[in-house]
Amino acid sequence: MNFIFRTSYWLVLLLFFNSCESIPFFKDSFNSKPTVFATLPQIEGASDKRTRYEFSGKEIIIASDHPLASQAGMEVWKQGGNVVDVFAAASFAISVLRPHSTGLFGGGFAVVHLPAKGKWAYDFRERSPKKGVASFYLKEDGTVIPEKTLKGPYSAGVPGTVQGILQIQKQHGKLPLSSILAPALRYARVGFSVYGDLAFAITKTWQQMNPAMQKVFGIDNRAIREGELLVQEDFAKTLERIMENAEKEFSDGETVQLVSRYYSEYQEFITLEDFKNYQVKVSDPLVSSVWGHTILSMPPPSSGVHLVTMMHLYSEMQNRDTFPKGDVGEVIRITEAMRVAFRDRAELGGDPLYTNIPVSKLLSQAYAKEETNEIERKVVSGSWPPSQEEPKKPESYNTTHISILDKDGNAVSTTQSVNGIFGAVQMVPGTGLILNNTMDDFAVAPGVPNLYGLVGSKANSIEPGKTPLSSMSPSILLDSTGKTKIVIGAPGGSQIPTSIFNTLYRYLIQKRDLYESVSYPRIHHQFRPDQIFLDPEIKDSYPQSELPFYQVQYIRHRAKVFAVTREGDRLIGVSDPKGEGVPLGF
Ligand code: DON
Repeated sequence: MNFIFRTSYWLVLLLFFNSCESIPFFKDSFNSKPTVFATLPQIEGASDKRTRYEFSGKEIIIASDHPLASQAGMEVWKQGGNVVDVFAAASFAISVLRPHSTGLFGGGFAVVHLPAKGKWAYDFRERSPKKGVASFYLKEDGTVIPEKTLKGPYSAGVPGTVQGILQIQKQHGKLPLSSILAPALRYARVGFSVYGDLAFAITKTWQQMNPAMQKVFGIDNRAIREGELLVQEDFAKTLERIMENAEKEFSDGETVQLVSRYYSEYQEFITLEDFKNYQVKVSDPLVSSVWGHTILSMPPPSSGVHLVTMMHLYSEMQNRDTFPKGDVGEVIRITEAMRVAFRDRAELGGDPLYTNIPVSKLLSQAYAKEETNEIERKVVSGSWPPSQEEPKKPESYNTTHISILDKDGNAVSTTQSVNGIFGAVQMVPGTGLILNNTMDDFAVAPGVPNLYGLVGSKANSIEPGKTPLSSMSPSILLDSTGKTKIVIGAPGGSQIPTSIFNTLYRYLIQKRDLYESVSYPRIHHQFRPDQIFLDPEIKDSYPQSELPFYQVQYIRHRAKVFAVTREGDRLIGVSDPKGEGVPLGF
């Protein structure tokens, strides 16, 4: 057994290196960076990692959270694909490579900008199944049944990833599905070496996995370890069926039949009808002028609108000389902008088909002025209301983002997720697919914090067919001449909008370069709990003693930013040095 395992492991390494040879830029970047098979560095440090996490080119750049996902994108680009083909190939590949973060039983958003053709916002996020109603998660006395939205078969929403990727690719891509799916299929069937972050996720969730899942993520009845081979044969078969049947596979194909059989033991919580009724939602991106650029972001139920409110509020405060100067002033402006944006999110956020979200108002100058007046009163009078502290729920490492930009300004910004680590930690037997636990993104009851400590209102309550509120905020920024300048997004739960804010702040306002902007220690506030979270490296610049009106926690910001920018005739990509990915390109 051991011998077979080792032999196949080295065979895979050999195959992998051979396949890299055929992709010159991958080979170059690969050679200059630590290999994916080595234990990857975690977060500390920064500048010495630049060679690994930054990459520049002239034609196209993709930044993702796994070298092989970036490679999948470049593989189809070399075959004559466009940015949408790159998006589709990299998305399927990352589902195989980061199954603890995202997958075909998950959901996501994509903002697509093709200057010669148009711009779109695609919502392929999970929807509450027909049986998904709030009372399903509550005891008779109205209190929440612990963990029911978090783990197990009832925590999953109806997935949209496959329908989303296929619809976008069908509308704008050039290559056949066989080419798009080839890299993902190869990674699932031939396997790849388990890296540190994935090994951690497997060990952490091992006890909760159902038998089908333990079979895939175990060797000899124990969790697979770092450096060992992960083969996902059932997943490969599902990919083959998608290759053959395209979107029909997820409306009435064998895969959804297997899902329906699985749910026959769980009150038929998700049914074939739920899959048949699933619709990808296509709309215009949310557009706003901010910081000398035009931002195209994802509309609600994403948090794009709150990200933009944050940016407007910051500008308004910066224009007033009543705010303190220096580091303290900076922290106040950023924190108070975040507090308002997350308050709005908690009070108003939800599926726009079920609740009214006053997007134009939240993006208006009048609103930024009005809210800044309130903050100014507090700052000038020095009468800060006492902090309202609530327990902080732990964050987890999952979800993923891919940013792609080519020399003609064509861009895709996509964030995809199964929500928590390995979602519901249940595999549908025979499919290789792991259920999401995105029902937890609803507010199960007003004021009850979710996995990310976020609270919500009735606007985000559970109702059949509804889409849960999301922090995912994929965005694209155009410069003042209308050319695509930045493609950006992040995983990281509630820290997603603030990581994008921090990066854009360092890049556009402070004029740091992209790598520094992504790696720079971050400032985070999410309304509840009423605390500022600062990366430990900036403790000396922002000691608690100078911020007596705030409760400060020096805790590492978890979100990982993936961004590509255009600077002159060069494209520069950065995959967050906290992660496992690399940007690649030509
Ligand atoms: O859509 C959301 O807001 C969450 N499902 C995102 C989860 C996430 O980013 C987890 N990452 N650490």
